[in-house]
Amino acid sequence: MKKIYFIILLLSISVYANGLDGKKVFETYCWGCHHQTAVAFGPPFSEIANKRTKEEIKAYIIEPKAMYKAFGYKRTVMTQLKLNDKEIEALSEYILLYKGK
Ligand code: HEC
Repeated sequence: MKKIYFIILLLSISVYANGLDGKKVFETYCWGCHHQTAVAFGPPFSEIANKRTKEEIKAYIIEPKAMYKAFGYKRTVMTQLKLNDKEIEALSEYILLYKGK
């Protein structure tokens, strides 16, 4: 039994250390403006996942101001956040989970 707890502990530490929990990153930085499948201030992740590639999603998170025209918006009000590569990777994977939903 003890072994199991130890493995669970190790797993949670590694998830935390890698910053791989896209849901947490989403809840921290994006939830105020985006919801998973409902329209909020910004488009829902399900809609984004259906029309964008991973590279496009990453580029938008990194610099909305450089991408909004190419994405068909007249202006952008999305905050440019300072996130690291792992957070951006985890977020784009998380968004793509909603493809087809
Ligand atoms: C201040 C509100 C706000 C925050 C915070 C925000 N967004 Fe946005 N986002 C928007 C709005 C509004 C749009 C629509 C276009 C625009 O204004 O840039 C958008 C557009 C996007 C798009 C492109 C949509 C498309 O057409 O494909 C992506 C991808 C995106 N947001 C991801 C994120 C992620 C990931 C986070 C968190 C790290 C985040 N946004 C945080 C408001 C926000």
